[in-house]
Amino acid sequence: MKRIFLEETESTNEYAKARRGLGEDLLVVARKQSGGRGTKGRSFSSREGGVYLSKLTFYKDFPSANAFLIMQSAAAAVCETLVTLGLQPKIKWPNDVFVNGKKICGVLIENALSGNTIASSVVGVGLNVYNELPEELLEIATTIFAESGKRFAVEEVESLLVKFLCEENIAEKYARHLGWLGEEVELLVGEKRVKAVLLSVDERGGLWASVDGEKRRFAAAEISLRVR
Ligand code: BTN
Repeated sequence: MKRIFLEETESTNEYAKARRGLGEDLLVVARKQSGGRGTKGRSFSSREGGVYLSKLTFYKDFPSANAFLIMQSAAAAVCETLVTLGLQPKIKWPNDVFVNGKKICGVLIENALSGNTIASSVVGVGLNVYNELPEELLEIATTIFAESGKRFAVEEVESLLVKFLCEENIAEKYARHLGWLGEEVELLVGEKRVKAVLLSVDERGGLWASVDGEKRRFAAAEISLRVR
């Protein structure tokens, strides 16, 4: 796979998306981003000291119905990286990664569809290594350094992450890192908050939870967790 290294760019996802027309798989890595993008139109703080990368992959006959596999692979790769570094990560469905109750990594996946298949995907990962976090995130976000006390080199974390992202069948490791199973959490369903016990996640990415003793499946609900 072709690799591009940048000291700084606005967003590695944007950089990779702009090169979709070339039709080749690509890995874009940056040391910092001036306009890092998060999910739901949010920004993603991307100061020096973190891993910021995007992996552009082209597929043949990849059904959109299997899109969750891409999310699973990204979250599992981040978890395997963190475990290798001695941490105990947990996935907050669908693909946020937490350590000790705080978010340590963000994943932004942007798929290009062709009919009912995914023609290509850009998997963007921002992993906090020892980067300084903005004041307003200190309560909810963390870094590898803050959790382990070890100042791993960005290059070391990055090469582990790339290794796991490229590992075949990495998605199979998603289940072992899924957090809060069997625990009571709060689900935000539309505007409504409901108490639920997490049961499982199916292969389509649906979340199964018990609400008032009834087993229900949630597709696009966003969970709000009481993590401390
Ligand atoms: C989120 O948690 O909201 C997702 C954040 C995703 C951040 C990564 S950093 C590398 C890539 N480039 C971006 O602009 N965003 C993703």
